Amino acid sequence: MLRNRSAWDEWATGYADPGLRSWSTDEPSWGIWGIPEEQVRLLPPDLAGRDTVELGCGTGYVSAWLARRGARPIGLDNSAAQLATARRLQNEFGLRFPLLQASAERVPCADATFDLVISEYGASIWCDPYAWIPEAARVLRPGGQLIFLVNSVQLVLTLPEEDDLPATESLQRPFFGMHRFQWLGTDSVEFHIGHGDMIRLLRRCGFEVEDLIELRPAPDATTRHTLASLEWARQWPCEEVWKARKTH
Ligand SMILES: C[S@@+](CC[C@H](N)C(=O)[O-])C[C@H]1O[C@@H](n2cnc3c(N)ncnc32)[C@H](O)[C@@H]1O
Repeated sequence: MLRNRSAWDEWATGYADPGLRSWSTDEPSWGIWGIPEEQVRLLPPDLAGRDTVELGCGTGYVSAWLARRGARPIGLDNSAAQLATARRLQNEFGLRFPLLQASAERVPCADATFDLVISEYGASIWCDPYAWIPEAARVLRPGGQLIFLVNSVQLVLTLPEEDDLPATESLQRPFFGMHRFQWLGTDSVEFHIGHGDMIRLLRRCGFEVEDLIELRPAPDATTRHTLASLEWARQWPCEEVWKARKTH
């Protein structure tokens, strides 16, 4: 957790301009390829008046999109530098909502506070799912929804060991045992688990899985990230969105 905090404090400047671009539009788009909301349908249709928390909000643009749809968002992030950008963008756009500095593995909010917990490349990949998903369940009201975007299992299994190299077309590591990842050349730690483990974890935390959406970029999509080539991502999902409802 502390390693990821210092990594993100260092990377924050590189996320300020993309954050500004995302704050500048009312049309959400998702993941490294910027796939439009009208294609993904990630957001619930009825956000007005909903209490939401974004776990690993970074520059806060997802929460800004939620606020513009009538929700009452809180953004939580572990990195002071990322939150400083979020605060600056809030002032620039005159759209303010609470920002908390904390780890999503220990959310400083009471039980049953929120109707929606959301994470796009936030807690969803930077926190241990066995810690943050029980926390998401705890702070959600019964009937509330958990929506998160992660890298696909296919991507994680085909990435080279070195950070910042694109996915290959061959399996680079075993599926069994996947959980904690540290790519060569970085101190940060990511977490990725298989679908069976994710389904069992969600169900154990009182969730019913509603959807698993594999994201496919358009033929002319572009990205500044090196995770996968467009040719790769047109053939295999490099990202996926999970939707789960807290039923008990
Ligand atoms: C890629 S950003 C996600 C924000 C935004 N959706 C984006 O794609 O730019 C990842 C964020 O997760 C945050 N993060 C990492 N570990 C965290 C933790 N334990 N608790 C909360 N946030 C964390 C980082 O500080 C960073 O701001």
